[in-house]
Amino acid sequence: IMEKINASIDFDKKLYKYDIQGSKIHANMLEKQQIITKEENNQIQQGLNEVEKLIDDNNFEFSKSLEDIHMNVESKLKELIGAPAGKLHTARSRNDQVALDFKLYVRNAIDSLVELLQALENEILIQADKNYDVMLAGCTHLQVAQPTTFGHHLMAYFEMILRDIKRLKNARSLMNECPLGAAALCGTPFPIDRFYTAKNLDFDCPTRNSLDSVSDRDFALELMSCISIIAVHLSRFAEECIIWVSKPYNYIKLPEQYTSGSSIMPQKKNPDASELIRGKSGRIFGNLQSLLVVMKGLPLAYQKDMQEDKEPVFDSVENITLCIQATSDIIKGMVTNKENMLKTLNFGFPNATDLADYLVKELNIPFREAHHITGTIVKLAEEKELALEKLDLRDMQTVCKDIKSNVFEFINMKNSLNSRKSYGGTAPECVKKAILEAKEIIKKI
Ligand code: ARG
Repeated sequence: IMEKINASIDFDKKLYKYDIQGSKIHANMLEKQQIITKEENNQIQQGLNEVEKLIDDNNFEFSKSLEDIHMNVESKLKELIGAPAGKLHTARSRNDQVALDFKLYVRNAIDSLVELLQALENEILIQADKNYDVMLAGCTHLQVAQPTTFGHHLMAYFEMILRDIKRLKNARSLMNECPLGAAALCGTPFPIDRFYTAKNLDFDCPTRNSLDSVSDRDFALELMSCISIIAVHLSRFAEECIIWVSKPYNYIKLPEQYTSGSSIMPQKKNPDASELIRGKSGRIFGNLQSLLVVMKGLPLAYQKDMQEDKEPVFDSVENITLCIQATSDIIKGMVTNKENMLKTLNFGFPNATDLADYLVKELNIPFREAHHITGTIVKLAEEKELALEKLDLRDMQTVCKDIKSNVFEFINMKNSLNSRKSYGGTAPECVKKAILEAKEIIKKI
C-alpha cells in the first residue's frame, strides 16, 4: 500500500525529457566547477542519452518501487555507467529537481498553447473577414438590441483570445527563473554556479530564495488559471454555436465531422464537440481548485503533498489543447446562413435606439424624453404587428407631431448599422479596419 500511495511514476514519467535535460546541464555545471571530472561527465552525458533513447523507444521498464521519474532515470543510469552515476546527484535534491522538471514542462506547455491560440486567431480573422458585413441582431440579455455583424461578433472572440495569449506570455516571464541549485531547501556547500545552470536552461536568472524555490508552485497555478480563463472563452463560444445550430436559429452549419447523429432520432445532428468544449471547462476549473487547496495550508518548504500538483496540470493542458484545436476547426469549417441572420432584424425592434437618437439629433429632444416617445411608438408598432420602419409616418406623428419623413433614413437597418462608427463600433467599415489592425497585432505578438 505504501508503494501505491507513494509512487508518482505512473504520471510523472511524462517529465522524462525535462528530467534528463536538467541532469545534463547540472552535470556540465559540476564539471565546469571541478566537482566532477571531465571523464565522469562524459560518461554521465552518454548514459543519459542512452536512457532517453530507451524511453523514447518504449524500451524502458518503469518501476513503481523506484517511486518517481527522477529515481527511475538515475537507477537506469547506474545500471548503464556504474559509479559515476552516483555523482550526478551531488549538490542537488529531488526537491529542486522536481521543481525544475515541472517548470520546464509548464514553460513548454505555455509555448505550445500560445502557438495553438495564434492558429485559432488566424481562423477567427479569416471567418470575420468573410462575414464583416453580414447583418444580424445583436443581443443583450439574449434579447434583440441593435443591428451588428457576424464579423464583429467573431472579432469579440479575437480580443478574448488575444488577452489569453498575453496572459500566458506574462505568466511565462514571471516563472522564468531556475530553481535548480536550491537543493533540498537551504542551498549547498558545494561551489555550484547557478547562473550557468539557469542560462543553459534558458532561464532569465536563478531563483533568489532556496526555500521559495522548492516550495513554489505558483507557476503551475498560473498556468491553470490561464487555462481556466481560456476554457471560459471557448465554453462561451461553444454555447453560442450550440444556440446557433439549433433549428429556431439556424445561423450556422457546423463542420460535419464535429457533429454526430442520434442513435434513435435520425433527423438529428448534435453539436457534440461544442458541448464537450463547454463541458470540459468543468474539469479544468476543478483542476485549478484542486491544486489551490493542496497548496494553501503547506508550511515551507517542500512537502510530499506537492506531488499532487502534476495530474491536474497534465489534465488541463491535454484537455485545453483538444478544445483549442477543435474550436479552430469548427471556426474554419462553419458555414454561415446569412438569410437567417438577416431575418432576426425583423423582430424585436433593433432600430429603436436609432429612432430615439433621431429625436435627439434632429428635433433637439432630451434623450430621456426621446426614450419615452420611442417606447410609445414601439408599443404602437407592436399592436399593429409591424416593424418600426414599416409604420406610417402619420402613426408616428400621433405620438410626436414633429417627426418628419427623414426619420426613415435613420431607422433604416443598414444606415443604423453603418452609423455606429465610433472606434471599436460595429459599422462594417470599422470592422474591416479592426480586422486589419488585428492582423498586425497577431503578427507582432
Ligand atoms: N515525486 C516527488 C514529487 O513529485 C519528487 C520529490 C520528492 N522529494 C522528496 N523529498 N521525497 O514531488
